[in-house]
Amino acid sequence: MDVLLLFTLLCLKADFSDGVLITQWPKYISRLSGSSVEMHCYQNDTEYNYKYWYRQIKGEGPVLIGSNDFNSPSYEKGFEKGFTISGTETKKWTLKVDVKKGTDAVYLCAAIVCCANYQAYFGNGTKLTVLELDHTKEPDVEILKPSEIETGCDEYEPESYVNSAQWMKLAYGVFIAKSGLYGLVVLVYVMRKIFLTFRFHSQAAEITLPKVKILPPSPNELCSENKTEKWSTLVCVATGFYPDHVSVSWKVNGEERQDRVSTDASARQDKTTLMYRISSRMKIDDMDWIDPKNNFTCTVHFFNGKQYVTVANTINGQKVKPKGLKLLGFGYILFLSKSLLYALVVAGVVCKLKFSAKKKQLPED
Ligand SMILES: *[C@@H]1O[C@H](CO)[C@@H](O)[C@H](O)[C@H]1NC(C)=O
Ligand SMILES: *[C@@H]1O[C@H](CO)[C@@H](O)[C@H](O)[C@H]1NC(C)=O
Repeated sequence: MDVLLLFTLLCLKADFSDGVLITQWPKYISRLSGSSVEMHCYQNDTEYNYKYWYRQIKGEGPVLIGSNDFNSPSYEKGFEKGFTISGTETKKWTLKVDVKKGTDAVYLCAAIVCCANYQAYFGNGTKLTVLELDHTKEPDVEILKPSEIETGCDEYEPESYVNSAQWMKLAYGVFIAKSGLYGLVVLVYVMRKIFLTFRFHSQAAEITLPKVKILPPSPNELCSENKTEKWSTLVCVATGFYPDHVSVSWKVNGEERQDRVSTDASARQDKTTLMYRISSRMKIDDMDWIDPKNNFTCTVHFFNGKQYVTVANTINGQKVKPKGLKLLGFGYILFLSKSLLYALVVAGVVCKLKFSAKKKQLPED
């Protein structure tokens, strides 16, 4: 009877506001097997006495590890070993995990004001990744080919131009040679950048930074005839990183953009290399895309075990114009100049002929 009364009083005293703030830290831990790690929770505005720790393995629901009700720890079946719940203050409670194979998971704390059927408030989670020695590997240095940016739409190309003249071939030859040179310059730049990045981080052998690439909207999406909306998609791909402690953000002209952005819920792991990849998509207005003054940045925030490292890539808007139109223009000027010169020469010859004819005629007159 007394216990019931106490509970009723506790419940009446409960603060029903939705703004229960539970701060959990750290967000990420990556550690070798055989050590132990601690994570903590703090209820900033509340003093709830029913406090819990949960474990959520990827793809499964959260499972209760144990509780710290009124600062007295107790453990669920299967969690008696390898887990230590502690905390003598009401506001703060701690979980210690012995790191070994199979302890990879997100650990969540929760607090309830009292009684059953009350809403539990959760911390944001601590993601533990177990680094295993036999998984230790040097980062692969992979050369990214400059992404092939389609600036035009094949459909736009007027056929009569294309099939016209011989000089087009020459002009294309020059164009291709120029592109080749440009590609080479970009390649050297990218190689240097990758080399520097990895040399800088190579002391953390098992932790590998992501490579970040932005794919421009596909020409099909941009130029589709039956297109009903004015949006196209930029895709940011981060590959070859470990562990999967990442988040992705976008900027347009240096300003953070959150709407029309969608990022994979979790990174996918390659079973053989153990490396992760994640992608994110941002819808952009076609009008913004075709303005080369606009730039779009994808930033991957990667926790390398000690600190956050950001790896970013930027792409500029691309003028959409019929492929080779500029070239055609140049070609036409060349063609016209040639014609003009030819015309002048012909005119000159005709004049001279006429003149000499006149001259010949004169004495006879
Ligand atoms: C929890 O995560 C959300 C979304 O990422 C963030 O807005 C919020 O500030 C975090 N809360 C705490 C207490 O860290
Ligand atoms: C809540 O408390 C934690 C631990 O003392 C602190 O790190 C965090 O900044 C606090 N958050 C707010 C919003 O007061």
